Amino acid sequence: MTDQMTRITLARRPEGTPVPEDFGLKKGPLPEVSKGEMLVEVQTLSLDPYMRGRMNAVKSYAAATEIGDTMPGQGVGRVIASQVDGFAEGDIVVGATGWASHAVLPGDGAFKWDKAAPPSTALGVLGMPGFTAWTGLREYGRPKAGETLVIAAATGPVGAMVGQLAKSAGLRTVAVAGGAEKCRLAVEKFGFDAAVDHRAHADESAMRSALAEACPDGVDIYWENVGGKVLAAVMPLMNDHGRIPICGTIAWYSGVNSTEDRLPMAWRNILTKRLSVNGFIIFDHWDDYPDFVEKLAPKVAAGDIAYLEDVTEGLENAPQAFIAMLSGGNTGKTLIKVS
Ligand SMILES: NC(=O)c1ccc[n+]([C@@H]2O[C@H](COP(=O)([O-])OP(=O)(O)OC[C@H]3O[C@@H](n4cnc5c(N)ncnc54)[C@H](OP(=O)(O)O)[C@@H]3O)[C@@H](O)[C@H]2O)c1
Repeated sequence: MTDQMTRITLARRPEGTPVPEDFGLKKGPLPEVSKGEMLVEVQTLSLDPYMRGRMNAVKSYAAATEIGDTMPGQGVGRVIASQVDGFAEGDIVVGATGWASHAVLPGDGAFKWDKAAPPSTALGVLGMPGFTAWTGLREYGRPKAGETLVIAAATGPVGAMVGQLAKSAGLRTVAVAGGAEKCRLAVEKFGFDAAVDHRAHADESAMRSALAEACPDGVDIYWENVGGKVLAAVMPLMNDHGRIPICGTIAWYSGVNSTEDRLPMAWRNILTKRLSVNGFIIFDHWDDYPDFVEKLAPKVAAGDIAYLEDVTEGLENAPQAFIAMLSGGNTGKTLIKVS
């Protein structure tokens, strides 16, 4: 067993889209474990879009990562030393490991993974992204059979789960995805009724025409994952009393390119169509997570809910995989195989 740990740090704050030099790689001795803590050897690390926000020194719903600190994130790993009652060496646990080969987790900051579905699913389809989809659709999408839902980043862990849940609730589901292959996956693997390739429709009006064709009865739920061109194209297609759960705006995470002020158009649509627009952050809903896992884990294990994982080998490759994900280089849940 190694006595060294490796971690990826924030070396400096990115200007716009992150580059590899924004990250550092540090090695050091394995940390000591005190009473109430366990040492975990990380097996799989989750890379998520929200981490881009943590790289900025701005006040948000969570604290910014400090320069030199380990990049934050959730991981799955094996307990190699424990001073926590109820956790033993060899247990597979999920917790906030950060981008690191090893992590010290407090007993109340980790949970055991004992489901039939593989441990990596605790980071994607059965983890924070899947839970976000399940919660947001019920609470803020309020789907009704016969309605139409549109979602971008449709083959990612949030989008794929939203699409499958909405489809099983009897909605027409329309995916927006980057590239022909992702559009094919959206329809063939995740059961979307139609898919629109945002890369093939460079401007907003072409995007709107393609979406209008895919949504002959208009749009009742626009699940907001990306903002940008997709939002601008969807807004005029919204039906009266439509719902827009705002889950993410990844197109703007590294800065806004367009200087055109779209706020008046958006506000006018919200008013005249009496839309319900709800921002939400999944951290406010954690109490419901055990219920979600209990209900969905058997379906995932049985293959009734499809998911895709995009696994990169090696912690040292995490920055590159993260940068690629932000612009659509991933196909499915972005994971790093650490050990
Ligand atoms: N509110 C919350 O609590 C919460 C929780 C989890 C996730 N989220 C948000 O949910 C969204 C999806 O998360 P995820 O983990 O499922 O991500 P993901 O799909 O694995 O990865 C992000 C995807 O966004 C798409 N994308 C990037 N730039 C885009 C652009 N300019 N226009 C259109 N699409 C673009 C790309 O897919 P294509 O190649 O298909 O375009 C990319 O693969 C993110 O915005 C994330 O921040 C929010």
